Amino acid sequence: MSAQVINGKEIVSAYRTQIKEEVAILTQQGVQPGLAVVLVGEDPASQVYVRNKAKACEEAGIYSEVHTLEAATEESDVLQLIEQLNQNPKIHGILVQSPLPKHISEEKIVEAIAVHKDADCFHPVNVGNLMIGKEGPAPCTPAGVIDILKKIGVEIAGKHAVVIGRSNIVGKPMAILLLRENATVTVCHSRTANMADITRQADILIAAVGKPKMVKREHVKPGAIVVDVGINRLDTGKLAGDVDFDDVLDVASYITPVPGCVGPMTITVLLRNTLEAAKRAAA
Ligand code: GUN
Repeated sequence: MSAQVINGKEIVSAYRTQIKEEVAILTQQGVQPGLAVVLVGEDPASQVYVRNKAKACEEAGIYSEVHTLEAATEESDVLQLIEQLNQNPKIHGILVQSPLPKHISEEKIVEAIAVHKDADCFHPVNVGNLMIGKEGPAPCTPAGVIDILKKIGVEIAGKHAVVIGRSNIVGKPMAILLLRENATVTVCHSRTANMADITRQADILIAAVGKPKMVKREHVKPGAIVVDVGINRLDTGKLAGDVDFDDVLDVASYITPVPGCVGPMTITVLLRNTLEAAKRAAA
């Protein structure tokens, strides 16, 4: 039996319509949500992501400004820009696209963003709040994955969820959000022994490793739900996820396509974070 391919476009479109309506109401009340995106350098993938984020803002009625800085920009100049954005009342969310050039400390930059304007949930204070279940911005990709699972009607509580990858951006916050939904969570990573033995126990398998087509059918329990967070550019120029889609298709019950599901959902959560930050500023 072939897995059901999750229709990301449909989920994202319904979600963004809802956000757009809320943005319009808030704007009418005099507060238009605003997002600032900072891009340092010319990484082609980052340029595409930033363009997509700005376009999504425009479609949702969210004010956005993109600050593109040369790769050689001094760290102090980036910090100065962030301070200006922290003070700017038109801006409710700030996002500094990663990766940054080597001479700039990601840690310093993230910590310079005002906690209440942290659109990514990268600031240590927000990461801490996430850990203890306090209100704050959602980590965009992991929260988007939870939204997708809920949208297709998966009961997460009691399920065994296995996350492959332990990055600060996806793997770790993903595990925390799944725990919050009462899943039993296992995290696999590059040093995990006998990975397939573990991933084959997963009712929900989330791949966030950044290695194209790494997850094969032998990693997947028949009937598992497979969510692919990876976006990898192949030598052919085509995009591929971390999951070997064709190999896994007739083993899983549900599978997310790449591109077209987790990526656009991540941006949708970013829009929601900006909206929520604007609501808090308006309150
Ligand atoms: N680079 C890759 N993904 C992300 C993301 O979600 N946020 C930021 N700021 N940079 C990224």
